[in-house]
Amino acid sequence: MADNGDQKQKQLDQYRVDSTDTRYTTDQGVRVDDTDNSLSIGERGPTILEDFLFREKVMRFDHERIPERVVHARGSGAYGVFQVYESLAEYTCADFLCDPSLVTPVFVRFSTVAGSRGSADTVRYVRGFATKFFTRQGNYDLVGNNMPVFFIQDAIKFPDFVHAVKPEPHNEIPQAQSAHDTLWDFVQLQPETMHMIMWLMSDRAIPRSYRMMQGFGVHTFRLVNAEGRGTFCKFHWRPKLGTHSLVWDEVLRIQGNDPDFNRRDLWDAIENGDYPEWELGLQLVPEEDEHKFDFDLLDATKIIPEEEVPLRAVGKLTLNRNPQNFFAETEQVAFCTANVVPGIDFTNDPLLQGRNFSYLDTQLLRLGGPNFQQIPVNRAIAPVHNDNRDGFHQHMIHTSRTSYSKNSISGGCPATGVLSGDMTGVFKHYAERVEGEKIRKRSPSFGDHYSQATLFWNSMSPWEKDHIVKAFLFELGHVERRYIKEQVVERLTNVDTGLAAHVAAGLGLPAPTAKGVNHGRSSPALSQADQPSSLAT
Ligand code: HEM
Repeated sequence: MADNGDQKQKQLDQYRVDSTDTRYTTDQGVRVDDTDNSLSIGERGPTILEDFLFREKVMRFDHERIPERVVHARGSGAYGVFQVYESLAEYTCADFLCDPSLVTPVFVRFSTVAGSRGSADTVRYVRGFATKFFTRQGNYDLVGNNMPVFFIQDAIKFPDFVHAVKPEPHNEIPQAQSAHDTLWDFVQLQPETMHMIMWLMSDRAIPRSYRMMQGFGVHTFRLVNAEGRGTFCKFHWRPKLGTHSLVWDEVLRIQGNDPDFNRRDLWDAIENGDYPEWELGLQLVPEEDEHKFDFDLLDATKIIPEEEVPLRAVGKLTLNRNPQNFFAETEQVAFCTANVVPGIDFTNDPLLQGRNFSYLDTQLLRLGGPNFQQIPVNRAIAPVHNDNRDGFHQHMIHTSRTSYSKNSISGGCPATGVLSGDMTGVFKHYAERVEGEKIRKRSPSFGDHYSQATLFWNSMSPWEKDHIVKAFLFELGHVERRYIKEQVVERLTNVDTGLAAHVAAGLGLPAPTAKGVNHGRSSPALSQADQPSSLAT
């Protein structure tokens, strides 16, 4: 059974030296007389190896960096609370969603995706919105983005996609931008990206503030109630301040003036007691309705239109405390889609299934081994009892004489709960029936890559369409290879022929030849009044 090292603490406390003395010591607690001069032979002689102070100081400095996240490297975090408005017990047995009197502590990390830790905040790209709920039944992580869909349908493409988005391998250019050949090459070769690309070219990709940004769980998840009944669920965060974006001109100026624009805004608001709030909304779909849509619920490149399944506001998130130490908390926090609690389960979305592996895998490297759950920001408030042992950076002092379960020697933890037949609060995997052949093939129900991209375009006002066209022109304007631009334009004809024609004209390309597939939803070409101002004559 795990214990937390309190015995060692208690044993030493009786001997502890007056702790009000804050003068400089080494890591071993030894006071030193001079931290500016290394130990040398004579005033002008060589430094000697014996200088443990110099060695410790430089060694600690040399080892300050850990690998940055492979994606979402730049982020800003804050603590807060979540509270549900009314019980959702009809749908889930997760106690933090069933008891309106419960206040659940959270840690949220917002992030950009493609840039490195030191890149600018206000780049055109998707933003991360990851929430760790410290529930009484264990940690639940909702690892979402500020856009409701994703670029790809299957996690096996994620390394290719990220390699295409990230700076090009030969010269590490461009930093944190999508305006380059490799991204657009990926796009023209993978039409499933088109819906997300429309979001990416819209003003949603340049949020004014993290406080004014929506969040989405993206995948269809499954809520499970106490009777074991499942309900499909999409998670949405809605900012109380409304959803606001920058305009491109502001972006260009802000990047030069203040690369920390979004980070500073979040920090200052919380410091000033102006706590940002979001409402949690759910779209709930009964299991029997799984196949009633003209898209597949398991396809992460699709939304469920709110006209078809309205959003139900179920609770409120408030961020009210800044971290005390960026590295210890914001950098070392570890989110994982596989961190679920009783009452929340997965679906077979192939993107989600792959994510469940990837986060834990990368954190083993990024946070130096299997004990990163013991880092304060990651530690569950629920009690942890198991027979996991040892490994790099083990901070617990396990005092049990056994470390296997079941056992009959030292209490038999954790089997006691299981063996005693008390199943209250146990995570039980949803018993979904599955059968089929082992194949590498996606269902045809994942095959429509354009209808919702068209839907998105048609929902835009004229000025929003103007911004989207200009974004395409800026991004594709940086692409060197002409055939890539032409292929992207061909793809766009399937979204909207008018949009494709404007982008082609703006790039000096011939009018696109493809007829485009209408899906019954394509809008007519822009009217003169709707014309993007940059293109209007
Ligand atoms: C990191 C969201 C798809 C692998 C993140 C983070 C977010 C996020 C918000 C940052 C977490 C933080 O702040 O620490 C999403 C969303 C996705 C998606 C919404 C699609 C719906 C994927 C896929 C993979 C993946 C398909 C891999 C197959 C990673 C990895 C990290 C990461 C490795 C770094 C984690 C770390 O170092 O702690 N993702 N992601 N993501 N994501 Fe995703």
